[in-house]
Amino acid sequence: MIAAYQATCQARVDAALQPLFDAPSPELQRLYAAMRYSVMNGGKRVRPLLAYAACEALGAPAEAANGAACAVELIHAYSLVHDDLPAMDDDDLRRGQPTTHKAFDEACAILAGDGLQSLAFTALLDPHLSTQSEALRLSMVQTLASAAGPAGMVGGQAIDLGSVGLTLDPHALAFMHRHKTGALIEASVRLGALASGRAQPAQLEALQTYARAVGLAFQVQDDILDVESDTATLGKRQGADIARDKPTYPALLGLDAAKAFAIELRDQALVAVQGLGESAEPLRALARYIVERRH
Ligand code: FPP
Ligand code: MG
Repeated sequence: MIAAYQATCQARVDAALQPLFDAPSPELQRLYAAMRYSVMNGGKRVRPLLAYAACEALGAPAEAANGAACAVELIHAYSLVHDDLPAMDDDDLRRGQPTTHKAFDEACAILAGDGLQSLAFTALLDPHLSTQSEALRLSMVQTLASAAGPAGMVGGQAIDLGSVGLTLDPHALAFMHRHKTGALIEASVRLGALASGRAQPAQLEALQTYARAVGLAFQVQDDILDVESDTATLGKRQGADIARDKPTYPALLGLDAAKAFAIELRDQALVAVQGLGESAEPLRALARYIVERRH
């Protein structure tokens, strides 16, 4: 079920994203090509899927979340482009292909990341992609800005880069991941719910509990895959966390306890959306997929 749902959502978000990379003038061809290269390269589209699934869980058509889905994938893609730069994690491979600064050059990759970040907000304000009322779109912009910014993802990345070689306790490790990865995952769910135009406060609360658990589960599984998978399957260098002496869940808890923790988080997520009925089935399938995925 999840494979078919994933394929449908991937096609939907890719169709919505594609026109954003049409260069408005010939001078900008290379910059737009670098942005397109960084996005249209086979990502799993987990964050758009969460946005669509949250929107559908509240009984609205998935298409209502097109702007939200594009926005979270654009922020995610920008964060990967910058994360791979020599000044940060200095990686050559992403999604099985050369990283953007390798395929283009470093300055171009920095600007492509900057451009993708701006395009994310454009997507939330584009009346073709986001048909919500102005008030709703304003709160969507606010949700994305705070999740992506220094009190969210950017802050988490700063902590990550400052943690190399340190042993973080479980609280500090969860704090870092809640910011670095969790904030955007939580925003994906919230934006999808807001995009439905019919989110009630209690539903937003339940979805936030779901997203918090799924966000951490996603990162725990990411750490597990860094140990257990291989470079060809991952599309990025296996063992990179260990090589860089990054604090991870398998390092902190041991591999088996890290796996048990991921399952526990999945179950917390499932409990949180128990009351949402049949329409939340894609959200449930996604929670299961996130801890079962092999890349
Ligand atoms: C893998 O996502 C990516 C993560 C686990 C997120 C890591 C967070 C950062 C790199 C934040 C960087 C922030 C800044 C500001 C530079 P995925 O498995 O969904 O990848 P995919 O989209 O390729 O499938
Ligand atoms: Mg990194």
